[in-house]
Amino acid sequence: MAFSFRGYTINKVGVIGSGQIGPDIALHFLKALYPYGVQVVVVDVAEEALQKGKGKLFKKVDKGVESGAFKPDRAEGMKSHITFTSDYSQLKGADLVVEAATEDLPLKRRIFRQVEELVAPTTILTSNSSHLEPEKIFAELLHKGRSLCTHYFFPAERNPAIEIIPGKDTAADVAEFTMRFYEAIGKFPVKVGSRYGYAVDPVFEGLLLACVQCVDAGLGDSKQVDTVASKCLGLRVGPFTAHNLTGGNPITAHGLSEMNEWLNKWFRVPERLRQMVDTKTDWEVPGRGETVEVPPDKEKLIAEELQGAYFAIVSDMLDSKIITTSDFDLLISVALDMKPPFTFMNSLGVGKALELVEAFHKKYPDMPVSRTLKEQAASGKPWDVLDVLFEKRGDIGFITIRRPKALNALNSKVFKELNAACDIIESDPEIKAAVVTGFGNKAFVAGADIKEMAGFTEPTQAEKFCHVVQHASTRLEKLGKPAVAAVNGLMFGGGCELAMCCTARVAPKGMKMLAGQPEVNLGLIPGMGGTQRLPRLVGFEKAAEMIRTANPISSAAALQHGLINEEVDGDVVQRAFELARELASGKTTVKLIEKGPLPDAPDSLPDIDIGHHSRAIDKLAVQAMLEGAKMTLEKGLLLEAYLFGQCWTTEDNRIGLKTFVEQGARAKAPFVNR
Ligand code: CAA
Repeated sequence: MAFSFRGYTINKVGVIGSGQIGPDIALHFLKALYPYGVQVVVVDVAEEALQKGKGKLFKKVDKGVESGAFKPDRAEGMKSHITFTSDYSQLKGADLVVEAATEDLPLKRRIFRQVEELVAPTTILTSNSSHLEPEKIFAELLHKGRSLCTHYFFPAERNPAIEIIPGKDTAADVAEFTMRFYEAIGKFPVKVGSRYGYAVDPVFEGLLLACVQCVDAGLGDSKQVDTVASKCLGLRVGPFTAHNLTGGNPITAHGLSEMNEWLNKWFRVPERLRQMVDTKTDWEVPGRGETVEVPPDKEKLIAEELQGAYFAIVSDMLDSKIITTSDFDLLISVALDMKPPFTFMNSLGVGKALELVEAFHKKYPDMPVSRTLKEQAASGKPWDVLDVLFEKRGDIGFITIRRPKALNALNSKVFKELNAACDIIESDPEIKAAVVTGFGNKAFVAGADIKEMAGFTEPTQAEKFCHVVQHASTRLEKLGKPAVAAVNGLMFGGGCELAMCCTARVAPKGMKMLAGQPEVNLGLIPGMGGTQRLPRLVGFEKAAEMIRTANPISSAAALQHGLINEEVDGDVVQRAFELARELASGKTTVKLIEKGPLPDAPDSLPDIDIGHHSRAIDKLAVQAMLEGAKMTLEKGLLLEAYLFGQCWTTEDNRIGLKTFVEQGARAKAPFVNR
C-alpha cells in the first residue's frame, strides 16, 4: 500500500532530526499516511535525541488513545510504522525527505549531500528551515529541481499552517505537488517567495524587537508590554511569553541579525535580547491569570507603536512580492493565531494604518514605509483579502472557497466573491468550463455561515439573505458553460446546495459521511435551493429523508442516489478538470436538474421519524418540498426563500441557532415544536 497522488507515490517518508520539531513532523505524517501503509523513518546522529523523540511521539499517540482520537489497534499500527534510527541508510527508498535539523547552513548542506547519495533522483527533498533560502540550502545538490523549503509551525503535528518556499531551481511540478500534497494531508499550505526569513518569521521576531524597543524607551516593563501586545495584536500570549515557551530567544537573535543584512537595517539584535541569550534567562512575563496594570496613556503609546511595527513589517513584504494579502492573512492567523494583518488594517482604515507606520518610521527611520501601503492608502480602498480564490487555468475557471477555520462556510463576503468569479468565467470566451472546490481536506463547504445567520432578527432579513445566496449559487447553473464541483470533503447544507447548482459533482471514494442537509438541527430549512433541487435530483423519498432527519449520507449512497456523478479514487480536483473538459466538448453528458414543475410531484410525504427535530420547522420543510415541486424551479426557489424567512417566526429557530453558536455542532437543540 502507498499514498498515490497526482502521479507521485509515497511509500516511505524520512524525517531528519529528532530534536524540537522533527518528531512532531513525523507524527503528522504518521497520522495522515498510516492508513495508506506509509513508513516513516526518523534519523538523527544522537542516540539520546532519538530516544527522547521516540518517547515524546509515543506518548502523544497514547494520549490520542486516551482522548478517543485513535483506537488502540490504530495506535499500535502507527507505532509499528515508525522507526527512529541513527542509520542514514534507512532513508533508502524514501519518496520524501524532510530535514528538520539545526538552523545551520553548512550542516544542512552536509546532510543533503549525504541524503542525495542514498535516495532516488526523484525523491522530493525539503528543509524545515525557518529562515534560509532554498537556493542556499540546496546549492550543492545534483538534482535541485526536487528540492524546496517547508516551514512548519509549533506544534507541527497540530498547527495546520505551513510555508512552502520553492527556490529558483525548484521544478514547477514539484512545487505544485508539494502544495497539493500538504493540503491533501490536512495542512493549510501557503506558497511564499524565497527571501530570508520567508513571511512569518520577520513578523514573529520583528514583534519581539518592537516589544524590546518599547521597554527600552521606558513605555512599560516587559510584563506591561507583553500584556498590551497580546491585547492590541490579538495574540493568545504576548511575544515575550511566546519566546519563553518556545525557547526562541537564540534563534530570534540570530534571525534578527541576519535580517539586518537581508531585509532592512531596522532589524537588529537589541542589547536586552543579547543579554537574555548570553545568560540563558527568560523574560519576566505575567503569571497565569495575573492582571497587569498599564496606565491608559502608556497603553495607547505601546499599542500604536506595536501596530505600526506590525503593519510596517507585513506591508514591506508586499513590496518584495513574496506573498499576497489573502495568503498572508490566512498564514498569520493560523501560524501565529493573531489578528490577520490586512483584515486588521481594513478594520482600522488603511489610511490610519499608514499613519501608524509613518509614525513608526519617524521614530525608527531604518524601517521603510512600504510603497504598496502608500498606494493602497491613496486609493482609498481596503486591502483585498479574498476567501474565494480564482485562477484561470487554461480553458478552465478554477474557483476555490478558502475559509478553512470555518470549514469553508459561505458568508455574504464569499457570495460576493463568488459572483465576481462567475462574472469572469461568463465573460471570458477562452474559459470553456468551471471547477469549484473547497480548500483543505476536510470540507468542500460545511454550509451557509451559521454565525452570520444567527445575527438575523427578522424573517424578512433571512428571506433577503436567501435571495442573495440563491442568486449567487444559481449563477453556476446559469453560466452557459459546464461547472463541476470537486467535492473534496464534507458538503453540508449550503455546500450540498452549491454543488447541486453545478452541472456535475465528483467526490472522494469511500467517504462514510459526505453529504447532508442538516438545517433542521439548527431550526432552519434549506435556503439555497435544497428543498427544490434535491427532490429533483435524488427523488422525493431520499430528499425528504435527508432534509427532515438531517442524516448525512456516504459517498457511495450519494452516487447510488444520483447526488454525485462519480466517486474518485485519487485527486478529485484533477478528475473535475477532466470531466469539465469532457462536458465542455460534448464528449460526456450528464442528467441535468429539471427546471419545470415535476410531473410526479406527490401531494403528501410519508410519515417519518424526525427524532428530536422541531415539528414546526418540519412543517415548513415539507411545505417547501411539496408546493415547490408543483412550480418551476425559479418559483420554487422564491417559495423556499419565503419559508426560510418564516423559520424566524418560530421559537425553535432561536433555540437551534443559539445552541450551535454557544455549544457547537455536536449539541442537540432542545426544540419546543413552536
Ligand atoms: N457556519 C459557521 N461555522 C461553521 C460551520 C457553518 N456552517 N460549520 C462549521 N463551522 C465552524 C465551527 O463553528 C468551528 O468553528 P470554531 O473552531 O470557531 O468553533 C469550525 O468550523 C470547525 O467545526 P467543528 O469543530 O464543528 O468541526 P468537526 O469536524 O467537529 O465537525 C461538521 C464538522 C460536522 C461539519 C460540523 O462543524 C457541523 O455540523 N457544522 C454545521 C453544518 C451545518 O449545519 N450546515 C448547514 C448550515 S445552514 C445552511 O447551510 C442554510 C442554508 O441552506 C442557506
